[in-house]
Amino acid sequence: MRTHRPGVLRAVDVGTTVTVCGWVAHRRDHGGVIFLDIRDATGLVQVVVSPGSPSFDTAHRVRSEWVLQVEGTVRPRPEGTVNSELPTGEVEVAADLVVVLNESEPPPFPLDDRRDIDEVLRLRHRYLDLRREPMQDHLRARARVNREMRAAMDAQDFVEIETPMLIASTPEGARDFVVPSRLQRGSFYALPQSPQLFKQLLMVGGFDRYYQIARCLRDEDLRADRQFEFMQLDLELTFADQEDVLEATSRAVLAAAEALRPGEVRDVIPRMTWHEAMERYGSDKPDVRFGLELHDVTEVFESTEFRAFAGAEAIKAICVKGGADMPRSRLDALTERAKSLGAVGLVWIRVREHQQIESPVAKFFDEAETIGLLDAVGAETGDLVLIVAGKRSMARSVLGQLRLDLGRPPVGEGGLHFLWVVDFPLFEGVDESGRPISAHHPFTMPHPDDIDRLESDPLSVRSQAYDLVLNGWELGSGSVRIHRPDIQQRVFSLLGIEPEAAQERFGFLLDAFRFGAPPHAGFAVGIDRFVAILEGEENIREVIAFPKTQSGTDPLTGAPSPIDPEQLKELGLRIIEKP
Ligand code: AMO
Repeated sequence: MRTHRPGVLRAVDVGTTVTVCGWVAHRRDHGGVIFLDIRDATGLVQVVVSPGSPSFDTAHRVRSEWVLQVEGTVRPRPEGTVNSELPTGEVEVAADLVVVLNESEPPPFPLDDRRDIDEVLRLRHRYLDLRREPMQDHLRARARVNREMRAAMDAQDFVEIETPMLIASTPEGARDFVVPSRLQRGSFYALPQSPQLFKQLLMVGGFDRYYQIARCLRDEDLRADRQFEFMQLDLELTFADQEDVLEATSRAVLAAAEALRPGEVRDVIPRMTWHEAMERYGSDKPDVRFGLELHDVTEVFESTEFRAFAGAEAIKAICVKGGADMPRSRLDALTERAKSLGAVGLVWIRVREHQQIESPVAKFFDEAETIGLLDAVGAETGDLVLIVAGKRSMARSVLGQLRLDLGRPPVGEGGLHFLWVVDFPLFEGVDESGRPISAHHPFTMPHPDDIDRLESDPLSVRSQAYDLVLNGWELGSGSVRIHRPDIQQRVFSLLGIEPEAAQERFGFLLDAFRFGAPPHAGFAVGIDRFVAILEGEENIREVIAFPKTQSGTDPLTGAPSPIDPEQLKELGLRIIEKP
C-alpha cells in the first residue's frame, strides 16, 4: 500500500518515486496549485498537485482528515519555501496520482498541538484526539517507559507473573470495584486495588523475584493524579531488605528516566527520612526542586509574651526571598489560605534595613526574638517571613502547602528530582475510636528498633515503609512485609482487626504464612504518574489512551451505563432507586 512513510522523507530521497498514505492535515489552494500536508504517525510531508495532473479534481475535492494514498516523486522545495521547522521541510512530493481511501466528516476540533480544546469534546472523540502530535508523543513515551522498566527488571532476574483480576478484597484503603457472580448468586468478586496479596503469596510460592506491569482499580475520588484504573510496576523480592528493594526499583525508574530525558538523572537517588521531610518541607512528598524550606523557630520564642505563640507545640517559619514588597492584599489572601488549611492565623513579617521588621505583631517581639528569628530563617533585607504556630503536624502541613503555593514550578520544569523518603511511621494517627490507622497497609513490618513500643506508644513506631518521590509527586510506595504470624497478630490487634475478622478477610494469606513464609519486601511505581512527569504533564489523563473524566465517566463509550434487565435478572440483582 505504501513504499515510504510521510515523516521520513528527506533531501537524500529526491528523485525517488514513492507511494505514501496518510490523513490530510491541511489543504491549501494556491492559485491553481493544491498543497496537501499528508500526516501519519511518523510526521507529515507536503504533497503538490499541479493543475495538469489527472488527480487535480480529486485533490480539489479532499478535505481535512480524508485518508489518501499518493503516488509521486520526491523533489526539493523551491528556493525560499524550505521549512526548517519541519523534518521533511526540504522536500515535497509532486503527485502523479491521488487516491481517496476514505472520506472524513469535518473534525469537531483542530488536530494540532493547541491546548485549549474542551476536554470532554476531546475524550468524546478520543480517536481523533489521539492523532494529535502531543498524544502520539505521550503514548509512545509511555510504551518506552514500560519497555525500559521491563528490560531493567528482566536484567535483574525478576520473573513477570500475571495475577488475577477477579479476586477477594485487597486492603489498600480505597473502595473496591465489585463484580457480581452469576454462578454464586449474591456473591461478588472485587477487582484488585493492587496485586499486593498475590505477590506476597508468590513469595511464599518460592518465586524469589516477581514483577508485573499491573492494572489496579480503586473506587476513589478522581483528581489530576488519580484515575479509577491505573498501572503499576509492581515488584516483590524474597530474602531481601529495604536496600534490595530500593536498588532494584532505582534501576528500573532511572533506566526509564534516562531513556526519555537523557542526561537529567544521577545514578543514585538521594534519601531523606520521613521526619526530616516533614520538618523541612512539611510534606511526605517533598518537592526538592526549590528551596523555601521550613525552619523550626519554637526555641526562639520559648519565653515569648506573644499570646499566639506562647504554649504552641511548634512554631515553624519560611523565608520568602525578596518577598517584603508583597502587597497587603496578597498577604491577606495568604492568611485566608493558611486558615482554610487549618491554621488559626498567619504571622507575616517584612524585613527592612538594619534588621528592622514591619508586621502587625512586631510590637510583641523583643529584640532577641527578632534577631533570633531572622537568624534562624536566614532572612535578609527585602525578605518576607511567614510563621505558623500551633500543633506541630498542623504548622508543618500549612507551611508546607504555602511553600508549594508560593514556589512550585510546573512539573515539567527544573529537571527530574527523585527522592526516597524512608522510615515512615507505622500509623498515621488515630480514628474516632482512638485506634491507630495504618500509614501504608497492615502487612508492613515495624522498624526493628521500635517494635518494643508497638503496644505502649504505637504512634512513635517507625515502619520499614518507603516512598519514591519525583518532583513533589508520590511516585511509588513499598515496604518490608511482616512474615511472622506473631507480629502480624500484634499489628492486627492494634488496628482492631479481631482474629476472626482477620481470618475471614486475609485468612488465605495468614494460612500461607504458616508454611514457611520467607522474609520479603516490595514496591509499586505508579506508571501513569511517572509518564506524566517525564512528559511534563500535570494531569495523568494526558498520558492515558482512554481515561475517565473527573466525574468517572467515559464520554466516548458512555460508561458507566445501565445494564439490560435480563442481565440483572441473571445476576440476581435489583436496582434500588436513590431516594
Ligand atoms: P500504593 O497504594 O501507594 O501502594 O500505590 C503505589 C503507587 O500507585 C500509584 N497510584 C495511583 N495512580 C493513579 N491513580 C490512582 N488512583 C492511584 N493510586 C495509587 C501512585 C502510588 O504511589 N501494594 C502497594 C505497594 C507495595 O506495598 O508494594 C500499593 O499499591 O503512584
